[in-house]
Amino acid sequence: MEEFIVEGGHKLSGSLQVKGAKNSMLPIMAASVLNSSDGSVVLHNIPNIYDLHVMKNILDSLGFKVEYQGDTLQITPGEEIHYVIPDDFMREMRSSIFLMGPLLARIGKVKLTYPGGCSIGPRPIDLHLKGLASLGVQVREENGYIEASAEKLLGTDIHLDYPSVGATENLIMAAVLAHGKTTIYNAAKEPEIVDLQNFLNAMGCQVRGAGTEKIRIEGVPAAGKCHYRIIPDRIVAGTYLMAAAITGGEVTLHEIIPSHLDAVVAKLKEAGVEIQGTEDSLTVKDGSLRAVETLRTLPYPGFPTDLQAPMSALLTKARGDSLIVENVFEARFQHMEELIKMNAQVNVKDRNALITGVERLVGARVNATDLRAGAALVLAALAAEGTSVIQHVWHIDRGYESMEKALKQLGARIERAGGPDPSP
Ligand code: UD1
Repeated sequence: MEEFIVEGGHKLSGSLQVKGAKNSMLPIMAASVLNSSDGSVVLHNIPNIYDLHVMKNILDSLGFKVEYQGDTLQITPGEEIHYVIPDDFMREMRSSIFLMGPLLARIGKVKLTYPGGCSIGPRPIDLHLKGLASLGVQVREENGYIEASAEKLLGTDIHLDYPSVGATENLIMAAVLAHGKTTIYNAAKEPEIVDLQNFLNAMGCQVRGAGTEKIRIEGVPAAGKCHYRIIPDRIVAGTYLMAAAITGGEVTLHEIIPSHLDAVVAKLKEAGVEIQGTEDSLTVKDGSLRAVETLRTLPYPGFPTDLQAPMSALLTKARGDSLIVENVFEARFQHMEELIKMNAQVNVKDRNALITGVERLVGARVNATDLRAGAALVLAALAAEGTSVIQHVWHIDRGYESMEKALKQLGARIERAGGPDPSP
């Protein structure tokens, strides 16, 4: 298994360009299944991350031709579209669930296995299934398989019990070719949902209201080819802002959308980090880190759960006590145990973590238990005295394109060693 070896104590400086968002790219790749024209969907600004290759393999297995070159992805429908998503893919990446909506819309059936839980807690799909059922989908569950089919999807009103990002996206993709109008109430408002709406509209669909809690979809007979550029990854951007701040460095991130990071920038400022912005960049300047009173993760526009772990790493070095409340996922504190191995002072109880800032973190051998936990450990290692080894780097590769290269470009001492990792 590959590891990162990090020598801590070097300030980051310089600039980085941030590529397309993983959480936009995955549903948009799934939505490409809706294309029934004789041409291709072409997606730009695609990051070379592990999850891209998993989704590419899924589309291949469903009968699409997928070519990835530079940062461009071309997805072309084949003669026949298959409806079974192999179990291996479902286990590898929860986002395989995104294929449900588009396959039902395009060919009226889909068969897949439960994505199951993962290391950040149980991740049910009840909201996806309930919403699909109200659009007229029949769902059968047998021997761990979910088989869903619909003669005809019919537009309807859907009230989500919780603004789930994935359920909102799956239901939009199911509804775009349905007969009549669908309105999704209490929809998630994340920027990636707006990106999905814009992509679907570029394919000829009619979706309005993304970014608000009410999304209206007018069914159209067919969707076609288009060119589309994915929005920059706000979570990657936030991670590198925090990396700069934890080392006391000065880093500028280019080609980002600063407004997507408003809640994050506000919390960083509260933690004493100096930040300046332009229309499409943010610069972190040296500041003196101090504790934040309470950091609560929330659906957008609140502080994103995906940046809770990296922010925790930063707060381990901030003077005073910071309380973190994880409201979105049940078990998203696994990085805390690893941070403690690096001399962090943290007390976890249920969904709360109390972090007391320490003067020095020390290098240690730690384990990346999931994608964002892994990023948090890299950040702590950058600021720690001595050398750290971060195991199971493939988790980090799921969402960050060559993190070690990006950080080296900013002056970090980080190497990738060992191997080979599971290949998608
Ligand atoms: C997406 C993001 C993930 C991010 C999360 C929250 C992608 C590919 N992933 O995940 O990076 O951390 O949003 O911002 O976009 N829930 C249910 N039933 C459901 C669906 C969700 O109870 O049917 C619960 C989940 O268990 C969780 C909460 O709702 O506690 C939020 O999940 P959701 O918003 O659906 O996140 P994902 O779409 O899985």
